[in-house]
Amino acid sequence: MNYQWYPGHMTKARRMMQEDIKLIDLVIELVDARVPLSSRNPDIDELGKNKSRLILLNKADLADKSANKKWTEFFQQKGYYVQEVDSRSGAGMKAISAIIQEACKEKIERDRKRGIKNRPVRAMVVGIPNVGKSTFINTYAGKACAKTGNKPGVTKGKQWIRLNKNVELLDTPGILWPKFEDQAVGMRLAMIGSINDEILNIDELALELIQYLRNAYPGTLEKRYQCEEAAEKEALQILEEVAKLRGCLIKGGELDYGKASRLLMDDFRSGKLGRITLEMPEEA
Ligand code: G4P
Repeated sequence: MNYQWYPGHMTKARRMMQEDIKLIDLVIELVDARVPLSSRNPDIDELGKNKSRLILLNKADLADKSANKKWTEFFQQKGYYVQEVDSRSGAGMKAISAIIQEACKEKIERDRKRGIKNRPVRAMVVGIPNVGKSTFINTYAGKACAKTGNKPGVTKGKQWIRLNKNVELLDTPGILWPKFEDQAVGMRLAMIGSINDEILNIDELALELIQYLRNAYPGTLEKRYQCEEAAEKEALQILEEVAKLRGCLIKGGELDYGKASRLLMDDFRSGKLGRITLEMPEEA
């Protein structure tokens, strides 16, 4: 789903998250593994201070394997627990419960010293729109988990999903907004499809992607679109070749650049161009 954001939405989302965060021990922050920085909002560090933190590199199946490793190390060095996941297939999910225990070991120890036994860790999922929060909750929680309903002492209306005897998850994820002001961030979010294509210039997006792929993933365009020596050509020339190869024509036989651009973006977003990451930790 694509979202349009207005200041009113953002203020409300932030206020709700401030309330919800008071109830939890652990913030599970989903980022898109193809754009792990652009898909974050730095406000989460302020909102989630004093909480245990786990970053999930979601959609890891679409991102470059070696980049996933680099990003994992990058965030680990900053003190976060990190795990790669594919929420659609469930890959990477098995490790999460153990990581949660590890991330919350201080809280568990504090409880133990106070004589509180077996109080489950409470967690909530947060992330920008479209990053995969609902998919993650559904896959991770699975069908077997029962909702625990309202609990005494907990804000009315909050639903907790009991994942196992050690962990409870707030069933509504917290929504963060991306840093739209930054143009490069906006461009990357548009590329992964998290900004509505209708408000974008799709040709411009496709040309940017071609330029990026030519440099960062040589051979990719050649392989999928049979264009030779992409590195030597103008991005527009490559788009033209894609249009010709795929028969993107308007009445009268002229090339339909818009159609070729959409095709290219769809190929990228669905992983048909291979596993691609759009930003690297070195640039951070
Ligand atoms: P949100 O709650 O954060 O807004 O995101 P949501 O779960 O709705 O997921 C957004 C889209 O991302 C969905 O695709 C979902 O299937 C896809 N997705 C989520 N996690 C992963 C992942 O780890 N890997 C891949 N490849 N895709 C993922 P959609 O096209 O909007 O819906 P659908 O066609 O899958 O139903």
